[in-house]
Amino acid sequence: MSDRIASAAVDGDRLVARLARLAKIGSSPSGGVTREAYGHHDVEARELVAGWMRDAGLAVEVDPAANLIGRRPGPSGRWLATGSHLDTVVAAGPFDGAYGAVSGVEVAAALRGVESMEHGLLVVAFANEEGARGTDGMVGSRALVGEVGDGELSTADDGGVSLDERLIDAGGDPGLLADARWDVGQIDAFVELHVEQGPVLDEADESLGVVLGITGRQAVDIVLRGTPNHAGTTPMHLRVDAMAAAAELVLAIEAMARDGAVRVATCGHLHVRPNVRNVIPGEAFLSAELRDDDLGRLAEGRVLVEGLVAEVDRLRGTTGELTWGQLVEPVDAHPDVVAAVQAAADASGRPWRTMWSGAGHDAQILGRHVPMGMIFVPSIGGVSHAPDETTDPEHLVLGARVLADTLVALDGRGLS
Ligand code: HGY
Ligand code: MN
Ligand code: MN
Repeated sequence: MSDRIASAAVDGDRLVARLARLAKIGSSPSGGVTREAYGHHDVEARELVAGWMRDAGLAVEVDPAANLIGRRPGPSGRWLATGSHLDTVVAAGPFDGAYGAVSGVEVAAALRGVESMEHGLLVVAFANEEGARGTDGMVGSRALVGEVGDGELSTADDGGVSLDERLIDAGGDPGLLADARWDVGQIDAFVELHVEQGPVLDEADESLGVVLGITGRQAVDIVLRGTPNHAGTTPMHLRVDAMAAAAELVLAIEAMARDGAVRVATCGHLHVRPNVRNVIPGEAFLSAELRDDDLGRLAEGRVLVEGLVAEVDRLRGTTGELTWGQLVEPVDAHPDVVAAVQAAADASGRPWRTMWSGAGHDAQILGRHVPMGMIFVPSIGGVSHAPDETTDPEHLVLGARVLADTLVALDGRGLS
C-alpha cells in the first residue's frame, strides 16, 4: 500500500463527533465525566462503542475480564492490537482513554479496505484501567497477560463489592478469567493512542509525542492512629490528633518528591474518623502514590516514606501502619514500534518529539509481553483527570491518522 492512504481514509469529523457523543455518557452538570469501571455509565459507553466496532467490520466480544474486544482476522494469522479504556476517574475530562479506544475503531474502519494487510486487527477497550473504587487499576489488561489472581477477585472495593461481582455487572465472567489470557506470541505489536495528560507538547507547541517509555507507579495506604477526644476540653499539649499528623505526613511526602527523591508523589485521598467538627480525629486514612521512570528510585522512595511515617509517629505520638499496594513497573517502548511511530509522525509533517509518559496506561502492562508503543497528542494546558481536560480537534484527528499509518507500517515490517 502506498504511503499514507490509511491515514487519509480516517474519518476525522466522525471521530470528533463520536468523542463528543461518548462524553455525554456519565457527564455531570457539576462538571466532568464519571464512568466508574463496571458501572452503568461504563457499560452504556461500551455498548455504544461495540456498535461502532460492528459498523467498522469488527467481530465484537466481551471477554471474561469484561474487556470489550473488536477483531478482524488477517491472512497471516498474526495480530496488531490497539485501543485504550472507556472508564474514567471521578470528574474526568472527555478524552483520557476514550480517545484511544474510539480512534482504534475509526482506524479499523479506515483499514477495512486495505487488502494488502497481512495482520489481523484487535481493537480493545480495556476494563477498569483507572482503578475504580479503590481497586488496583489496569485490571483488564492484566487479565490478558494472566496477572489477576483469585485474591484480587474476592477483595471488596471501597463500596464493599468484590471484583468478581463487579465483573459480572459489566458482562464478564470471573469463573472463566483464565480464558481471557491472550496468546501473546501471536501479537506483533500493541500501539495505544492517548492524550498526553501533561504540559510538555502544548508548551512546546508540538503536535505529537512518540513515547519511549511509561513511568512506574507505587501505591501505598497509610493509617495513622491517634486518640479521639473532646475538641473543647482536651488541652493542646495532651492531644494525639491523627488529622494533624496526616497533614505533616502529606507535606513531608510532597517535600520528598520536590527534593527529587522520586519524580512525583501525591497523597490523593484522605479520610478521617470520626470526621466531625468537634471531635479530635482518632484515625486518618491516606492513599498515596509515588511515580518514577526508574524502578530503583521507586524502591528508594518506599524506604523514605517508611522513614517519614516513623518520624511523624515520633513527633506526634501516633501509630502509623503502611500497606504497600500495587506496583506497576516502568516499561520501555519497543524500538521497532518507536521507529514506526516516528516514521508516521515524520510523514505527517507536524512537529513531534520523543518523550516518556508520566501517566500509567494499559500499554505498560502489555508492553512487558508484546512490542509496545504509544502516540501522544497535546493536552491543552496540560490538564487531565479533571473536567477541563481538552485537546484541539485537529490534534485528535492527526493522532488517529498517525495511528493508522503506524499500524500499516508495522504490518509491512513483519515485527516479531
Ligand atoms: O493514573 C494514571 O496514570 C492513569 O490515568 N490511569
Ligand atoms: Mn486516567
Ligand atoms: Mn488513560
